[in-house]
Amino acid sequence: MKRSTLIALKALTWAACLGPAVLLTYQAITNTLGPDPTANIELTTGYDTLLLLILSLAITPVRKLVPELLWLVKFRRLLGLFAFFYGTVHMLAYVALYAGFDINAMLADIAKRKFITIGAITWLLLLPLAATSTTWAIRKLGGKNWNRLHKLVYVAAICGVIHYWWQVKPGVLAPMNMTIALAVLLAARPALSWWLRRKARTAAA
Ligand code: HEM
Repeated sequence: MKRSTLIALKALTWAACLGPAVLLTYQAITNTLGPDPTANIELTTGYDTLLLLILSLAITPVRKLVPELLWLVKFRRLLGLFAFFYGTVHMLAYVALYAGFDINAMLADIAKRKFITIGAITWLLLLPLAATSTTWAIRKLGGKNWNRLHKLVYVAAICGVIHYWWQVKPGVLAPMNMTIALAVLLAARPALSWWLRRKARTAAA
């Protein structure tokens, strides 16, 4: 891939990732967030967090399947960090707009409503991943430990999907797409390892 193409693709990715934040800010300034602005902010940021998380998880299997797409790896950290960004805006919007910065009300809500409990767990799982996303942290932790820690992203994605299911009304199937996407990605890991091992064995024979 040419350097200029990579730079253009990175710029496009930045624009696409910033899009929802810019739109929400514009809608907030112009008072066009709709009849329930708080829910609009919360639902948009929650959805985008999970979407970006799942997109970042898709990069490794795709590049393993298509070796020509190795350059995709350069986008994984960007997508992961934007997932954390939206997850943090989502969490802060809850703290400010739903709980009104009332710590006791928040703790009671976390204890009482299981979808809030798992949402908080999901955000807490993303925190160490974002904190160790720098090249310095990778060097400090060592590749093996870093890889082990970053497996947590799968746990976070599973918790995020459960949070989504527990948040919708019974019978609403909106979280199904994300659930199927995540299930495919989870199954792709062992399936691809097996396929690549078999390919290597056949090539060596
Ligand atoms: C402290 C952490 C979190 C809290 C308190 C929280 C709270 C909430 C609340 C209150 C809603 C419902 C909004 C409404 O119905 O008006 C919601 C929706 C949602 N949240 Fe979270 N959440 C948290 C973390 C996360 C994280 C880390 C993710 C993703 C990995 C996430 C993904 C979602 C999704 C996908 C929705 C539904 C969006 C939709 O229906 O389109 N949340 N969350």
